[in-house]
Amino acid sequence: MSLIEIRGLTHVYSQGTPFEKTAIEGLELAIEAGQTVGLIGHTGSGKSTLISHLNALLKPTAGTVLLDGEDIFASKAAIRRARSRVGVVFQYPEHQLFEETVYKDIAYGPKNQKLDEAEIDRRVRQAAAFVGLDEAVFDQSPLELSGGQKRRAAIAGVLAMEPELLVLDEPAAGLDPAGREDLLEKLFAWRQARAATVLLVTHDMSVAARCERIIVMSDGRIAMDGAPQDVFARGDQLQAIGLELPSAARIAALLRDRGAAIPPSVYTTEQLADAILALWRKGGAAC
Ligand SMILES: Nc1ncnc2c1ncn2[C@@H]1O[C@H](COP(=O)(O)OP(=O)(O)OP(=O)(O)O)[C@@H](O)[C@H]1O
Ligand SMILES: [Mg+2]
Repeated sequence: MSLIEIRGLTHVYSQGTPFEKTAIEGLELAIEAGQTVGLIGHTGSGKSTLISHLNALLKPTAGTVLLDGEDIFASKAAIRRARSRVGVVFQYPEHQLFEETVYKDIAYGPKNQKLDEAEIDRRVRQAAAFVGLDEAVFDQSPLELSGGQKRRAAIAGVLAMEPELLVLDEPAAGLDPAGREDLLEKLFAWRQARAATVLLVTHDMSVAARCERIIVMSDGRIAMDGAPQDVFARGDQLQAIGLELPSAARIAALLRDRGAAIPPSVYTTEQLADAILALWRKGGAAC
């Protein structure tokens, strides 16, 4: 059984009004436990709408979302279970911070899980340390934090729940390159240590390239779904729906156009470096 199974999911905003908008239509998707999935798609393609269904924040207009085979809207208890097992860091994490102190904010999720005080405290400190948030800010209002710190606090609040499925909507947006790399390294390390399932929404193709599976959305539907090398082999199709290849894949394509024997499976900077080195070691014979 899949961890998440989505059947015929449709979401219509403001139904029956002049502002009616079908954001997702008839979507079918299964996510297996332990997978790291990158979700990409042009702006407005429905990514945030889709993930908001995974912890029952949005109710499907039609269709169902199953968590371990159970409809997450089956009962109040099912909704509670989904909110405890699926942790979602939304696109604008500052909207997710609402308690009077940073500590209370990070503790909010574990508290809802009815953990005892000592365990909540352990989780809060561990999660804050993990995302690189200094305990000196614990007593501050979240509103006093910088943009990067707010993001880290929101992520810490979700990690402190120790979710089985961690969903992150553009977690690195707005961070400088060093901060972005640091955060991604930490998230991948967290996933590795806990064997958790991760769904990462991103506009950054080089981030998606680090996932084992990529789902591409376009106009409320799934346009592609597969291993990065298979998705990135379809550069023309990606371009047609407003997406670019990762920069390493673009450079590899340019080199191929110029006659270099770079395999089509190259899409990360490491792979590109290895491919160029291999050609160079062959004395450029293949060029
Ligand atoms: N609360 C809302 N009310 C009405 N329409 C909405 C609402 N939220 C999103 N939409 C519309 O639904 C569609 C899908 O939006 P969604 O935010 O899910 O896209 P997205 O892929 O996350 O985009 P982005 O990459 O910009 O974050 C868009 O056309 C958007 O304008
Ligand atoms: Mg979005």
